[in-house]
Amino acid sequence: MSLISQEDLNRVRSSANIVDVVGNYISLTPKGKNFFAICPFHEDHNPSMSVSPDKQIYRCFVCGNTGNVFTFVEKFLGVSFAEAVSIVAKECGVTLSLDQTIKKEDKFQKEHELMDLVLKIYQNNLRAYEGEKAIDYLKKRNLFDETVKEFEIGLSLNKNILHDLLKEKKYGDKMLEELGLINCNEKEFLDVFRNRILFPIHDLNGYVVGFTGRCYLTDIVPKYLNTKETYLFKKGKVLFNYHRARDAIRLNKSLILVEGNMDAIRLSSVGIKNVVALMGTSLTKDQMEALKKLRVPLVLMLDNDSAGESATYSIGNLLEEQGLSFSVVRLSGAKDPDEYVVQFGKEAMVHNLEKTLSFMDFKLNYLKKNKNLDEISDLSEYIKSVLINLKKSQDDVLIEVTLQKLVKDYNISYDVLREQLGTKELSKKEEKKSVVKNNKRINGYYKLCEEILYYMMNGGEYIRLFQKHIGIFPIQNYRMIANEILYYYEKNKTICLADFITYMETNALKDVVLEIINREHEIELNSDAMFGAIKLFQVKSKEREIKEVKDKIKNELDDRKKMELTQKLMELKKEVF
Ligand code: UTP
Ligand code: MN
Repeated sequence: MSLISQEDLNRVRSSANIVDVVGNYISLTPKGKNFFAICPFHEDHNPSMSVSPDKQIYRCFVCGNTGNVFTFVEKFLGVSFAEAVSIVAKECGVTLSLDQTIKKEDKFQKEHELMDLVLKIYQNNLRAYEGEKAIDYLKKRNLFDETVKEFEIGLSLNKNILHDLLKEKKYGDKMLEELGLINCNEKEFLDVFRNRILFPIHDLNGYVVGFTGRCYLTDIVPKYLNTKETYLFKKGKVLFNYHRARDAIRLNKSLILVEGNMDAIRLSSVGIKNVVALMGTSLTKDQMEALKKLRVPLVLMLDNDSAGESATYSIGNLLEEQGLSFSVVRLSGAKDPDEYVVQFGKEAMVHNLEKTLSFMDFKLNYLKKNKNLDEISDLSEYIKSVLINLKKSQDDVLIEVTLQKLVKDYNISYDVLREQLGTKELSKKEEKKSVVKNNKRINGYYKLCEEILYYMMNGGEYIRLFQKHIGIFPIQNYRMIANEILYYYEKNKTICLADFITYMETNALKDVVLEIINREHEIELNSDAMFGAIKLFQVKSKEREIKEVKDKIKNELDDRKKMELTQKLMELKKEVF
């Protein structure tokens, strides 16, 4: 961010037309002065997002998402701010020194080159004599040339070759060892991967950072050998196929999360490309963040065994805690998604993906496991575990429907279930909700301040009016935003909403600014109208001051001070009338 100057940012921003840029990603319909679209940032059914060519901003009046071209690309593609700027610059043909900046940020350039080279060596091995057996194995698993190429599948031979092949190059033994490619002892350099079919693992940006190698000649342990943790390869930070799947995820507006790399490869090879693999059954915080960034609902489709089932429960709970929207697929008749597709075909898989289970439905089944519900103790344990799960839910409809189902299936009194669920918990939730609501229902005085700030973000003439008649806001956040506006204007001698958003990118008050911009201000942008707002603000400010003094008088015990306050109150009242 700090590497790109504000001038450059504004140059790119003003060369881009938000209607064209947003229109590249979602479809826009013109209506009046603006364009409308189904908002891509929430489950939207009516077009709730408006894009304004005049103001060069977009706003969704349902979910509150607001911003300029950069914010849109950043959020829509799940990329960093700098990447978003670079994408927009490219789209509108502006060249930036930024491209170099981004390249420079690759501080592991040499390592990345090495990993690419090693990948080529492994891919080449498939063409060696020993490659035949590996290709036979792949064919037996229905993996043919096209898939082998797409997933850059390779092979490690039954000998130590990496060190010798690479010694001519500029890479030292130390780097090879540190990246988990060879092991050194006193006498020799041993390749870490021997006799394995190799699948490169990429980091989220698409750099090859490690490998996972499957035995294929005989069954040995481990079945898959992974690159050790290195400074490039952190297993908990990568997701297999993430970088390849991104476009398909965006197009399908959903992501399928599977356990094994073979599951991802299989689905992808039959055209279901919006798939990412965990490479095991745990989901780390970093991986969750990466998934969250994609802003699409997930389908959790883990293996059919009991480990896959437990993992569905634990990962589902994590996703739920993080507020991610997801559903569940449990396959039957095959061990995992890979084998399911091989056995039953793509259509059967698509069918499963179309009729996913809600997580609650999954849990209702899962919690029954190993219980005999004809027995009182098991049944009561089961009901309690369902209630514990329900307590975590914020979804009142889901809670109600589930309770009704329990009433129907097990003939239990609704009132007892409700009581067990804990009215206390519920009231806490209600409280939380009402706070949110109150925050939204912004009171008249705050609304007025925000209107004035909104004017100020729209031009110098409004800033001058503010300086002349108000000068300083009594509310801290607004005061700070006004200061940012003044500072920005002073520096740039001009101001518009779209550029001010970019300027606030790293500011803690950015969200407040976006909220202000998002709010429907029923105002006309002209000086007379702003002057009207300023007058009203002054009257309301006095009223607030009067109220404050009155409150103080009420609570003051010292007579002398009370007198002083009363005096002040009279003066204030005089000013108003
Ligand atoms: P699975 O045992 O389900 O493998 O492990 P799979 O996907 O079905 O593989 P195939 O079909 O036998 O080839 C799921 C994931 O767990 C990791 C791998 O990433 C694998 O894809 N794993 C498994 C290991 O890291 N090491 C192992 O020894 C086994
Ligand atoms: Mn498998």
